[in-house]
Amino acid sequence: MNGNRNDSGRGRREERFRARYGSWAVVTGASDGIGREFARRLAANGVHVILAARRRDRLKQLAEELNSAHGVETLVLALDFAKPEAVDQLEAATAELDVGILVAAAGFGTSGKLVDSPLSAELEMLDVNCRAVLALAHSFGRRFVARKRGGLVLFSSLLAFQGAPRAANYAATKAYIQTLSEGLYRELKPLGVDVLAVAPGPIRSGFEARADMRMSMSQGPEVVAQEALDSLGRRLTVRPGWLSKFLETSLAPLPRRGRTRIMTVVMGGMTKHQRERGDQRLERLPDVPSARPITRDVNLET
Ligand SMILES: NC(=O)c1ccc[n+]([C@@H]2O[C@H](COP(=O)([O-])OP(=O)(O)OC[C@H]3O[C@@H](n4cnc5c(N)ncnc54)[C@H](OP(=O)(O)O)[C@@H]3O)[C@@H](O)[C@H]2O)c1
Repeated sequence: MNGNRNDSGRGRREERFRARYGSWAVVTGASDGIGREFARRLAANGVHVILAARRRDRLKQLAEELNSAHGVETLVLALDFAKPEAVDQLEAATAELDVGILVAAAGFGTSGKLVDSPLSAELEMLDVNCRAVLALAHSFGRRFVARKRGGLVLFSSLLAFQGAPRAANYAATKAYIQTLSEGLYRELKPLGVDVLAVAPGPIRSGFEARADMRMSMSQGPEVVAQEALDSLGRRLTVRPGWLSKFLETSLAPLPRRGRTRIMTVVMGGMTKHQRERGDQRLERLPDVPSARPITRDVNLET
C-alpha cells in the first residue's frame, strides 16, 4: 500500500517535471561523472535524453542502460566542444525534438602553475568551459524563450568565487560561468526559463585525473545531480556536497584576498604530488636580480 502511494507520488513528481520542462533534455559531458548522473536521473524522471560528449562508445553504453532501465528514448551525439562547429551540429541534430532542459556538464580542469602549462591546453579549456557553454546557453536559451519554458543548468565550481593559485585559469573559467548564470537567471526568469548555477566541491569523476589533481574528501557525482535537479526553478546557485557548503559558510565573511589565500592552501594540497615528482621548473629558478629600469620604444607599425 505504502509502495503504491510512493509510486503514485513519484509518478506525479515526474509528471510535473515533464510538464514544466518538456519531454527531452540535452546533457553534454554525459560520458562520465556528473553529466552521466544527470542523464540517469533525468531518465528516471521519464525524460528522453540527448547524450553528447566525445567518447561515442561510452555514450552508447549509457543509452542502452537508460533505454532498458527506464524505457526512455535517447540520441547519441559524439561531439568535441573544443571545436566551434559542435554547438551548431548539436542544434541541428535536435531541432525537431521538444528539448526543455540543457545540462551543460562538458568541461575539464588544468592544474599547476599557468606559466608551466602549454597555452594551447589553457585555450582549449577556455573553448570547452566558456565559449561552448556560452553558445549552448544562447542557442537553447532562445529555444526555451520561444516555447516560454525550459531550464539551463550550467557548471560553476567552489573555485568560482575567488582566484585559485595553481588552478588560476580553471577558476577563471568557472567565475565566468557563475557570473553568466547570475545575469541570465534574472533575464530569463520573467520569460519562463529557469537558470541554475551548480557549484560543486570535489566530486569523484574523471575530472581529477584529467586535471592532474589529487582530491581528498570528494563525494560521488550522484549528490550533484540529485540536489541540482531539486533546485532547478527554486534557486539561482546550488552548492552540492558538504565541503562546498562548509566553505561557502566559512569563506563568506572573508575579503576576496583572504579567500584566495585559503585557496592557495587547498590547491597546494591538491597539487602536492606534482611538486613531489619534480614539476617545479619555475620554483627552482634563481631569483632574478633587480636591474636598472630601461625604457625602450619599439615601433611595430610598418
Ligand atoms: N569533479 C569535480 O570535482 C568538479 C567540481 C566542480 C565543478 N566541476 C565541473 O563539473 C563539470 C563536469 O565535470 P565532471 O566532474 O563530471 O568531470 P568528468 O567526469 O571528467 O566528465 C567530463 C565530461 O565532459 C566531457 N568533455 C570533456 N571535454 C570535452 C570536449 N572537448 N567535448 C565534449 N565533451 C567533453 C567528457 O567526455 P569525453 O571525454 O567523452 O568528451 C565527460 O563526459 C565540469 O564542468 C567541471 O568543471 C567538477
